Amino acid sequence: MKSEIKSLTERDSICIWHPYSQGFNSTSPVPVVRAERIYLIAENGERYIDGISSWWTNIHGHSNPHISREIALQASELDHVIFAGFTHPPAVQLAERLLNILPENQSRIFYSDDGSTAVEVALKMALQYWTNKGVDRKRIIAFENAYHGDTFGAMSVSARSAFTNPFGDLLFNVDTIPIPSSDDDETPLTLLDNLLKTYNNQYAAFIFEPLVQGAGGMRMYSASALDRIIRYCRGNKIICIADEVMTGFGRTGSFFASDHLKEKPDIFCLSKGLTGGTMPLGATSCSEEIYSAFLSDDKSKTFFHGHSFTANPIACRASLASLDLLTDPACLNAIKRIQNKHRDFIAQIKTYQCVSNPRICGTILAFELGNDTMSDYFHSIRDWLYFYFLEKKILLRPLGNTLYLMPPYCIEDFELQILYNAITQMLNDFSIKKLNANKSYTPNGTVT
Ligand SMILES: Cc1ncc(COP(=O)(O)O)c(C=O)c1O
Repeated sequence: MKSEIKSLTERDSICIWHPYSQGFNSTSPVPVVRAERIYLIAENGERYIDGISSWWTNIHGHSNPHISREIALQASELDHVIFAGFTHPPAVQLAERLLNILPENQSRIFYSDDGSTAVEVALKMALQYWTNKGVDRKRIIAFENAYHGDTFGAMSVSARSAFTNPFGDLLFNVDTIPIPSSDDDETPLTLLDNLLKTYNNQYAAFIFEPLVQGAGGMRMYSASALDRIIRYCRGNKIICIADEVMTGFGRTGSFFASDHLKEKPDIFCLSKGLTGGTMPLGATSCSEEIYSAFLSDDKSKTFFHGHSFTANPIACRASLASLDLLTDPACLNAIKRIQNKHRDFIAQIKTYQCVSNPRICGTILAFELGNDTMSDYFHSIRDWLYFYFLEKKILLRPLGNTLYLMPPYCIEDFELQILYNAITQMLNDFSIKKLNANKSYTPNGTVT
């Protein structure tokens, strides 16, 4: 008689719908049963290096003892409580501590669930700010090639792509400008100026991923050029929203990417590294000017937004524990150490002809493979790269032809070296086999 006992992946294949995955022909997911530091440990005992911090969330490594302990304590003290009409210590402490490290102009924290909802909250705050003021400003400016999440507002301010196409007609229109290509690139400002001449006083907000556009291909751009755009927006009363969902909590070498700016944004969107990558939580902070526009005895000026799990105490406590680690000088030193190592490695691989636009920002290292200097999410080389590293027990998730590293900060030098060696070997294989980035690659490496 045939055994009824199925493996985890077989059971998964019958009942789970995975994100960003084509169920029709995708390979089986790796069954992970444990994780520690930078390692994901599979059911069969194999250990995978998490080179991308599990979708950019896990900044201190997996199952960190301090964060795990705090989560367990909180779960036994207060698991959850409605956040309308009630409050609790972790939510208040976290807001206080976030406001301590955010720029001084930030004065209130609004909690939500993840990066997309933090963005939705920011957009709704900005739009309702103007409604509450009795001013008709509804247009939004975003950068070309942006990614701000998968909910409808977040999709609307993101680049139109295969991600958004099925919903194209339902998304609201957004005006876009390119990211600056250099410190003194004036093109985005000129285009912005033209837009403002056409739609005089109609702009409510400008939303941007400061310094690095993540999902759009780890595109890095100048802080001083962004400063000029923000200054221009400020001069025209346009609310500036920094989406720091990916760049926040040390990724770019400082607490927030906006710390590299002179002009401080009015609203911040935070998630991912907020809880150290352990629990889902989003936070949107805003200035007193924005918050005060919602204070009124007219109930219609209330911000009618909230989620069942807003300010979940366990997630807030995890964030407090993560902040304990982040604000320890040892962590900031680790970030600097990774940045220096990345810089050395970039200098080494620059000589490869198949490496285009090698770059770093903080702990993020990226380059395009092949001659295309632009990132192309649907590039056929992507699967070949993904499975090349997975075979070596390394999790990297190339964005098309863009390969990047974004490790947890606890990664040690010898572990970074394992990642660098694997990349160098890949570049050698790529060059020796004279693989062509424009051809199609199957997961097992055959070229079609
Ligand atoms: C800049 C940015 N904003 C928003 C999001 C959406 O976050 P989430 O996936 O948690 O909804 C992401 C996710 O990658 C992001 O990189």
